[in-house]
Amino acid sequence: EKATTVLAFESSCDETGVALVRVEPGRAPRLLAHALHSQIAMHREYGGVVPELASRDHVRRVVPLARQACAEAGVSWAGVDVVAFTQGPGLAGALLVGAATACALAAAIDRPVLGIHHLEGHLLSPFLSADPPEFPFVALLVSGGHTQLMRVDDVGCYELLGETIDDAAGEAFDKSAKLLGLDYPGGPALSRLAQAGDPAAFDLPRPLLHQPNLDFSFAGLKTAVATALRRLGPQPSAGQCADLAASTQAAIVEVLVRKSAKALQHTGLRRLVVAGGVGANRHLREQLDALAQRRGWRVHYPELHLCTDNGAMIALAAGMRLAAGLCQPLRHYAFDVKPR
Ligand code: KG4
Ligand code: ZN
Repeated sequence: EKATTVLAFESSCDETGVALVRVEPGRAPRLLAHALHSQIAMHREYGGVVPELASRDHVRRVVPLARQACAEAGVSWAGVDVVAFTQGPGLAGALLVGAATACALAAAIDRPVLGIHHLEGHLLSPFLSADPPEFPFVALLVSGGHTQLMRVDDVGCYELLGETIDDAAGEAFDKSAKLLGLDYPGGPALSRLAQAGDPAAFDLPRPLLHQPNLDFSFAGLKTAVATALRRLGPQPSAGQCADLAASTQAAIVEVLVRKSAKALQHTGLRRLVVAGGVGANRHLREQLDALAQRRGWRVHYPELHLCTDNGAMIALAAGMRLAAGLCQPLRHYAFDVKPR
């Protein structure tokens, strides 16, 4: 058997990512190159992602990024064996750009294509770190659109243990940040502001914390933040805003940490993998690391720059699925995307 080179496209939201991974029998898939363009600056003035603008920008960026990634990897179009793309979930118009580009290229060079689930990319992204996890593990998937706990026994063997019944953790960060007048994306901005604040200053709710299940709920938190802000009057001081940011972050992080601990206890597993944009949060990492140290657990994270959306994780997921013999890429170019 010979090596397989995968070229992958990610365009589900506001980052255009292209990456190449090499899969060789008996070896872990290797990242050859990845190129990324973030649209954050473009969407910032609108306070959030504008889907139409996102799609148009993906169109502008995707081919130059693919050329850049291939040049970095030293791979020509003809050197690509399989073309992968993020099939969903995500913004429909944005997903279509990556899917159409992947299928057009694959058809032109007569190669098969493979659609990848965006969350599987996040889930497997820690395998690109210097300290990759071993199966089985519990995964805490915390992104802008999803908050899930999963039991992961192998590539493709995922069991949902619990998930949010309303807002995602990233959404809770983003919406609270917006109330505090912070720039999009709110997660990193709120966490920066929180550094100067007192996390015990405001008593915010920790919904479902004491329920025996592994589900989450964050919608009430946003309401509590809005109420706290109203009580502070029309012009809260910088200190009060920092306190509220710190209290909000503490509430979200406490729920994530306690539910992750519960998932490890329920499954009897001793390894936790954290993935998705909120996995970049420093407070979350500190709290999880401290608890893991006390309990003798291991926690694995993606490299910081691979926590948010990128093409590398999609190329890796495609590579790991191919290496595990889980899927058959097809010469079927009538692509379809799955926004939800
Ligand atoms: O995984 P991701 O890039 O996109 C989705 O698939 O949704 O996650 C984006 C989310 C946003 O809600 C963003 O505010 C949040 O991750 N985020 C953070 C941090 N960095 C990104 N939240 C808290 N602290 C951070 N440092
Ligand atoms: Zn994502």
